[in-house]
Amino acid sequence: MTEDAPDHELMERVVNLCKRRGLVFPSAEIYGGFRSTYDYGPLGVLMLRNVKDAWWRSMVQLRDDVVGLDAAILSSPKIWEASGHLANFTDPLVDCRSCHERWRADKIEGRCPNCGSTDLTEPRAFNLMFKTYAGPVEEDATVAYLRPETAQGMFVNFLNVLQTSRKKPPFGIAQVGKSFRNEITPQNFVFRTREFEQMEMEYFVPPDEADKWFEYWLDERMRWYLDLGIPAERLRLRHHEAGELSHYSAATADVEFLFPWGWDELEGIANRTDYDLKAHAEHSGEKLEYFDQATGERYVPYVIEPAAGATRTMMAFLIAAYGEDEVGGEKRSVLHLHPRLAPHQMAVLPLSKNDALVPLSREVLALLQPLGMCDFDVTQSIGRRYRRQDEVGTPYCVTVDFDSLEDRAVTVRDRDTTEQARVPIDRLAEELRGRLAR
Ligand code: GAP
Repeated sequence: MTEDAPDHELMERVVNLCKRRGLVFPSAEIYGGFRSTYDYGPLGVLMLRNVKDAWWRSMVQLRDDVVGLDAAILSSPKIWEASGHLANFTDPLVDCRSCHERWRADKIEGRCPNCGSTDLTEPRAFNLMFKTYAGPVEEDATVAYLRPETAQGMFVNFLNVLQTSRKKPPFGIAQVGKSFRNEITPQNFVFRTREFEQMEMEYFVPPDEADKWFEYWLDERMRWYLDLGIPAERLRLRHHEAGELSHYSAATADVEFLFPWGWDELEGIANRTDYDLKAHAEHSGEKLEYFDQATGERYVPYVIEPAAGATRTMMAFLIAAYGEDEVGGEKRSVLHLHPRLAPHQMAVLPLSKNDALVPLSREVLALLQPLGMCDFDVTQSIGRRYRRQDEVGTPYCVTVDFDSLEDRAVTVRDRDTTEQARVPIDRLAEELRGRLAR
């Protein structure tokens, strides 16, 4: 694939694979689908969870300066008034006067992508927040919004976290969860949807250290994608021009991935300055600042925010991992997913359905289940079963055969090299733990 030639075939294959193998289904499919929403199937829910866990591991578990939060999705209009979202969180909407489709003006270069007409209305600001009512009465006093980003939940809990966690700047609050935006044109499968998941971290720093920490988080976040297997040539950092910056940002850079349609955003890393804490302090009347007892200094921290999309990132990992090759003269499609991201880490495959193999196979399964998700598949030929596991990225298949009954050893097959090694069952857990820990 090159930058100039979008690889529609790759996109089609990944989307088909997602449907066929139970990663992602169109939502409400039996009713014809529902407005670009998607459901995550048995394998998709495992992989999405793995993406979020890998983020949490790197951003919270392996650090001592970041704590977690899970704030409410249903939120007060006061939050969005203070944050500027009620006034500013808009996209320019235009109508095509010919076919009556609606588009985002900044994405279509003056021509309707549906019918080609240039007879479009003037753009008007369309607010992307989903509005609802909390309680049985639909009136102004009960208006609530589904959060369009997880970030604000962390700003409005700044004092709660500061007081209960005894952290001091530089420190961060991390959150993973659903966000909702009434996108005018959801598109490209799960790349842009109205309901999606974010992985965001607000890192509170002394104002004079903001530039240093901004650079630090650019490096950290790039490394995360590379360590989990995105090839360097499909990943880049793009710094925003001054005119492109959000209303709260002093500097922003996007981590971009080379999608089948070209370079597009995976994550935004922003220096949000003290904009949010000051805005919420002003609107709530609470002092949202840090008092340093050692120096007697009082200040409003600046915030560096790495904000990623979990669902969008899962799609990028799938696209980057997809490959086709030949094994023993037979074509296969394979997902070269990092073991931490693959839906199943292992699969136990009794060589045949023969009853004699079942008890030992189940013993092996029970031995491996504590190490990760383990599939168990007895149907069809062993070759077909290997192909099926390769196609969904299972890094290791463990085959129990008739010799296993005599020598208490099994065959471990590597997805990427297809090499097979005989391993005694009493060393199997240790062997796989080692291989999976890379
Ligand atoms: N708190 C800052 C913030 O929300 P953003 O760039 O609007 O920044 C961060 O969103 C990330 O969330 C994006 O980089 C993207 O990965 C994901 N995201 C945003 N809108 C999305 C949508 N409609 N569908 C899927 N993912 C989305």
